[in-house]
Amino acid sequence: MDDRPSLEPQPDDSIYFADGRLHLLDQTVLPAETVYLAMATPEEVAAAIRRLAVRGAPAIGIAGAYGVLLGALSAGDAAGAVEEEARRAIKVIGESRPTARNLFWALERMESALEARPREPARILSRLRETADEIAQEVIETDLTLARAGQEVIGEGARILTHCNSGPLAALRYGTAVGVFIEAHRLGNNIHVWVDETRPLLQGARLTTWELARAGVPYTLICDNMAGQVMKEGRIDLVMTGADRIAANGDSANKIGTYALAVLAHAHGIPFYIAAPGSTVDLSCPAEPDIVIEERDADEVRRCSGRLIAPADAPVYNPAFDVTPARYLDGIVTDRGVLRPPYSESLQVFAP
Ligand code: MRU
Repeated sequence: MDDRPSLEPQPDDSIYFADGRLHLLDQTVLPAETVYLAMATPEEVAAAIRRLAVRGAPAIGIAGAYGVLLGALSAGDAAGAVEEEARRAIKVIGESRPTARNLFWALERMESALEARPREPARILSRLRETADEIAQEVIETDLTLARAGQEVIGEGARILTHCNSGPLAALRYGTAVGVFIEAHRLGNNIHVWVDETRPLLQGARLTTWELARAGVPYTLICDNMAGQVMKEGRIDLVMTGADRIAANGDSANKIGTYALAVLAHAHGIPFYIAAPGSTVDLSCPAEPDIVIEERDADEVRRCSGRLIAPADAPVYNPAFDVTPARYLDGIVTDRGVLRPPYSESLQVFAP
């Protein structure tokens, strides 16, 4: 019997595939509205990834995989058309956002499915569908394993600070760091989560609070610039965030502001953890300088929730991510347990 997680849509699922369309819970309008967008083409999926309608490293991996399937499904039955459209989709979606390893992990899996035999269009299509479903199921399974493994570092009644959003919305069903918090709460641990609002796009304020409230996890929202004071007041026992790409030496990219939190945690003697599945680990990337950091539109900084908060022509720098050097990490919570330094050795559990 197949006991893998069901992909039948469940309430609040971030992503599901039905009726030949990819359905995405629009993360740009949460928490005010709960709206699903139906994607029919790889171009629509790439645009949704780019404008953060779907976001979070594991979630964009799943969306990317189904985006490739949409491309293949749109092909006529002329010989080679399915393959050609799928390859075009891989290219279009691969150009959407550069930093999260999970997107390329998923696209590489779809490419391998494309290259396998037999080559009849119908067989290629069914392999692409199976592979996209497998990717979604793997995200659910590895996140659940990770959520359980993470309990090792969450003391009873822990007061935890997090940044950005790494919960069910950023993945599917469980999430990574927020998945660890929700599991701790479910197990009866009386934790409290401090949530950074996460400017410029407020993923903490809009999304992490929404997830924690739905799961009944007590939380307090703060502005990003309050984290140091909250640590100094002795209100934080540990910091845990997700990650978008983990290099072979443990250097970890995550939402802009994570590095500052790691340095602050270090200065206050507070443990700092990253939580991410193996699909975020990039052993082909040696260290920080090889991680590509996405730069986003200046208006994201000049505006807040659409409203101009600076001169319309204010010069802006808007990197979407930063890299926390491995020396600031007390551990990396993964689906293969909590990895400890030296990460160049412990991350080898993910070597092929
Ligand atoms: O720009 P975003 O919102 O996609 O950034 C997301 C993050 O930085 C998350 O912390 C990361 O993807 C981990 S999600 C499990």
